[in-house]
Amino acid sequence: MDFKQEVINTLQKHVKVDVGPLLTTPPDSKMGDYAFPCFKLGQNPKEAAEKLKEKIMLPNAIAKAEVLGPYLNFFINPTILTESILTEIYRKQKTYGQQKYGKGIIAMDYSHPNIAKPFSVGHLRSTVIGNCLYKTLKTVGYEPLALNYLGDWGTQFGKLIVAFTKWGNKEDLKEEPIKYLLKLYVKFHEEAEKEDSLNQQARDEFKKLEDGNQDSIKLWELFRELSLKEFHRIYKILNMEFDSYDGEASVNKQVPLAIEEIKEKIKTEMSDGALIVNLEEFKMPPMLLLKSDGATTYHSRDMATAFKRLRKLRAQKLLYIVGSEQKLHFKQLFKVLEMMGYSPENFIHADFGLIRFPEGKMSTRKGRVIFLEDLLSKAIETIEKIIEEKNPHLPNKEKVAEQVGVGAIIFADLSNERTRNINFDWDRMLSFDGETGPYIQYTHARACSIIRNAKSKHSIEPSLHISFDVLHNEEEQALLKHLYSYPEVLQRVSDSYKPHHLAQYLIMLSQLFNEFYHACPVLSDLSKQMKARVLLVDCVRQVLANGLDVMGIHAPEEM
Ligand code: ARG
Repeated sequence: MDFKQEVINTLQKHVKVDVGPLLTTPPDSKMGDYAFPCFKLGQNPKEAAEKLKEKIMLPNAIAKAEVLGPYLNFFINPTILTESILTEIYRKQKTYGQQKYGKGIIAMDYSHPNIAKPFSVGHLRSTVIGNCLYKTLKTVGYEPLALNYLGDWGTQFGKLIVAFTKWGNKEDLKEEPIKYLLKLYVKFHEEAEKEDSLNQQARDEFKKLEDGNQDSIKLWELFRELSLKEFHRIYKILNMEFDSYDGEASVNKQVPLAIEEIKEKIKTEMSDGALIVNLEEFKMPPMLLLKSDGATTYHSRDMATAFKRLRKLRAQKLLYIVGSEQKLHFKQLFKVLEMMGYSPENFIHADFGLIRFPEGKMSTRKGRVIFLEDLLSKAIETIEKIIEEKNPHLPNKEKVAEQVGVGAIIFADLSNERTRNINFDWDRMLSFDGETGPYIQYTHARACSIIRNAKSKHSIEPSLHISFDVLHNEEEQALLKHLYSYPEVLQRVSDSYKPHHLAQYLIMLSQLFNEFYHACPVLSDLSKQMKARVLLVDCVRQVLANGLDVMGIHAPEEM
């Protein structure tokens, strides 16, 4: 049931203005659910509202209309609301929220860690934001592609090959690949401080790699394979997969062709032996396409990749989930694509802020990094301790601790407006109350436990054989209206590429549920009401689970 549309249809028969865009929500639900401003209907809006009220015929879905100042306000019929929303959620279960709001292929570029380097916290942000947007876009009807554009090419591989050949061995490498490669990378930079010629050697090694030298390629493949294996461990914990792991290296061969095309369509220049696109007229530094030694660049690989996604993958939109420190890189990329004739509104850089740790700033070159797996382990251990204290007999303790610990980290990230910097606060993030993942999961588990009790103690199963006219309390109606707005929230996330709208929605849903639960005894003995409330609780449980799933978070039934 689309209540807003019902109001629009009712009004549209009697007024000339386009009703849809004018309809608003009153500041307080006591004043109604929809408000129609009558300023455009005549000299005296209040009178116009009165007249309009006399003319219209209310449909069943609307209980009443009231004039409030210059507005005509409408109240949803509570029984019809109850029936329509509970029936819909009960029937759709896991698929409640799915819709045909969007269409078209969206190539999503996210996670994209760098081979031979630790999976950083910045990559964690891209990973969890990307995953949530992927699931949201899919739910509302788009065809997103999950593309993990691995950082597997670039001059750092020249450095690694030099360092590995000079100081490394395969046994140690296989033991703990990324930690070992990081050590070599750090050593390279320390040594290069003393001996500048190492930098030239690294450039030569990278050139050899680009020219297809077999030995260099073998070594590079080994680094890539071992790193990816470690990344997969993290993706498994986060319960996610990608459609493709084609990284920067995969387009390297297409770069010359892409550059030919760029040269044909727009003006390029030579500058100190390098090939560039001058962007002075747009007040930006130039885009570097080829270095003076002929090596490809991050930008030229990104250009070739964009062509591939637009043509071969037939994507309508390119969505990049990358930290705000790369804003300029993407502005340049989008500008050059625009100069080549593509419409800029189809390129989106969903940027995000930094996470600041109490431990201070990190630097890969100096080896100062927080390993993501350590971060996740710390969260899981803390939750294990809390469970040990609060609920020592919980079945599946370890699994639940993992789901809650990881969920806490994901939620702490997604609940912040994407572009804001986050100050990492362990205590706040892992708390069971407040605006946290564990709080939402706990509310879900509580709903599950009510349903279990209804079954075991009262033999009541959630079902549609209930009276829909007994949930008229303020708390019940507020909860029902919030459940009703879930699909719309997913639309908002997909329009803004901002997951925090969903996080806020789930916090609100949990709060409204807890208020309802305190005000309205569910397992009372008024059996008509008990049955209806059990169904309401079950629908809240379902929507909490669906929303958490879209965020990439598990919803354990007990915790
Ligand atoms: N691997 C890069 C990094 O860690 C991010 C890649 C972003 N995607 C892109 N198409 N440039 O900084």
